[in-house]
Amino acid sequence: MQIEPVQPKHMEIRRLENTETPPYELLLLADPSLVLVDKYLKEGECFLCEMDGEIIGVFVLLMLNPETVEIKNIAVREAMQGKGIGKQLVKEAIRIAEEIGYRKIEIGTGNSSLNQLALYQKCGFRIVEIIHDFFTFHYKEEILENGMVCRDMIRLRIELAS
Ligand code: ACO
Repeated sequence: MQIEPVQPKHMEIRRLENTETPPYELLLLADPSLVLVDKYLKEGECFLCEMDGEIIGVFVLLMLNPETVEIKNIAVREAMQGKGIGKQLVKEAIRIAEEIGYRKIEIGTGNSSLNQLALYQKCGFRIVEIIHDFFTFHYKEEILENGMVCRDMIRLRIELAS
């Protein structure tokens, strides 16, 4: 029996073109509010991760002020999660922020998003703030995760070298 050689996968991270439809199914994995997703897309810049021509990941960068950029939305297609792609996306977002010349990069997630909190800290983010009741105030539907209500936003930051 002949064994098929495994083809190396080609992964590319690139900006979403104005003519392209944003990958909503991915963006809504990270944030269930379509209104907020659309707001971030309008105000920020969307980056896609493609593997062999298929979109498998996304992140949106939004300028908060001339010194600070935020990763507003980051997601990897469910079947591809847990393989190191999310970490590569976070690292690429940090690299882009540094290249543009921002001094800080921030990210916010829920108190119940334990895996995300682990990922961001493993990428160098430190917790800087808690916005109490952010999710209970801004989202109509209760968000349950890891057996907990998602109430508070944990904000994390990296002070960049530039
Ligand atoms: N404890 C310790 N470490 C953990 C834990 C945990 N509970 N969970 C994850 N990790 C670590 C992993 O070990 C790994 O680090 P390592 O490489 O050092 O071992 C890292 O966190 C996870 O890495 P990836 O495999 O790269 O993550 P993945 O490709 O699954 O992407 C993501 C992560 C983007 C959060 C993905 O799971 C996803 O799309 N989830 C749904 C959408 C979502 O929740 N997005 C974030 C919302 S917040 C926001 O958008 C700002």
